[in-house]
Amino acid sequence: MKLSSVDFRTLVGVALLLLANTVGLAPLGATEHASDYLRPQSEWPALHINAHADVAPLPEALDYNALLAEIGAQLFHDTQLSIDNSVSCASCHNASLHFADSVRVSRGVEGREGHRTAQILRFAGHWQSLFWDGRVTNLEQLVGVPLTDPNEMDSSIEHVMSYVGSTAYKAQLEAYFDSPLVWQHVASAIAEFMRSIESPKRQFDYFMEAIAAGDFNEAETHLNAQQREGLHLFRTRAGCVQCHAGALFSDQKMHNIGLAYYGRKFEDLGHFQVSGDPQHVGAFRTPTLRYVSEREHLMHNGLFTDLLGIIRMYRHGGARPKPRPAQIDDPLFPTTSPLLQPFALTAEEEQALLAFLKTL
Ligand code: HEC
Ligand code: HEC
Repeated sequence: MKLSSVDFRTLVGVALLLLANTVGLAPLGATEHASDYLRPQSEWPALHINAHADVAPLPEALDYNALLAEIGAQLFHDTQLSIDNSVSCASCHNASLHFADSVRVSRGVEGREGHRTAQILRFAGHWQSLFWDGRVTNLEQLVGVPLTDPNEMDSSIEHVMSYVGSTAYKAQLEAYFDSPLVWQHVASAIAEFMRSIESPKRQFDYFMEAIAAGDFNEAETHLNAQQREGLHLFRTRAGCVQCHAGALFSDQKMHNIGLAYYGRKFEDLGHFQVSGDPQHVGAFRTPTLRYVSEREHLMHNGLFTDLLGIIRMYRHGGARPKPRPAQIDDPLFPTTSPLLQPFALTAEEEQALLAFLKTL
């Protein structure tokens, strides 16, 4: 077999790359923008053209009343609020998992399953709309939803009030609100507990603190060259920052990245069920990317477990299901967000983006 000169050059290139890897040198190109990030944020390379906001450190903690939050914490962990005393909020929102669940789809009373994956509650008090589809707009209003959902706690406000009214909670809540016990007090206490949930700092936050302080030597110790290259790709070519921006790494808006599974098993119409607008079929609230590498079940359906696989899906422009012949004229057939466009990423760059996600 005869090698053409092009093949030969490729071979030499691959050999050099392998050599560079074995002797521990970063392959050329994998960290070319890393040093651009050891500067004030205002001097970083320009953001992706469609981005409205840049990346930011964790949000300020919210104000809350410690006494009310403590009563709320007890209620949050109390299985007696459910219809058969078997399930509490904490059954599906586990503190050691950033208040998410260990399984793809949580189990409520009698092992019943819903169809979405439980969300982390670290930023519960920061969202303008709640749940994957944004169907509720405040925490107090949300509390009644899992309590009464047949697949979750299958309880009723009457059941909760008769239980709370017969325990020490009654005196505690009446003392706090200085008025006779009503359901709203129970909802307020649980909501206050959720506002008190802390969000521990991550490598990325220490990096941002050092950048803000102008201490670039310190910054370098928190994000290495590969992670800074990943930050660059996140903000630029890969386009993640168009939606995953700001302190929560979420624009808090509804987007369809192509996972409605329309007309198939796992179909979920998302925000369309809230707005009735066909443009919202398959749209979900951009989730936070905080703590994402420590979570197992990703996306609203929890069907994704591999961050590299997710990066590759975005590299191809998101999921782009094709309508079957019978669906061609279906006005509800979902359209993937035009913000998602295919982009090129080398294997090293994929690894850099992954390394950056792990710092969040
Ligand atoms: C059986 C499991 C289960 C139980 C019990 C449960 N949840 Fe959830 N929780 C979920 C799932 C699943 C979701 C996502 C649902 C969706 O988006 O439709 C969720 C979402 C939430 C959210 C929205 C977070 C966000 O980022 O928008 C909050 C807040 C919340 N739950 C609080 C509670 C509280 C408070 C209780 C107890 C009163 C509770 N949950 C009980 C499974 C559960
Ligand atoms: C058009 C807006 C948009 C862009 C751009 C975007 N995302 Fe997302 N991302 C979303 C939405 C919306 C979801 C939730 C979709 C769902 O559950 O169906 C999501 C989910 C995710 C998840 C799962 C998180 C979880 O908690 O389940 C990861 C990881 C993720 N995106 C990473 C990225 C990365 C990396 C990029 C850049 C390559 C990116 N995203 C670009 C909107 C976007």
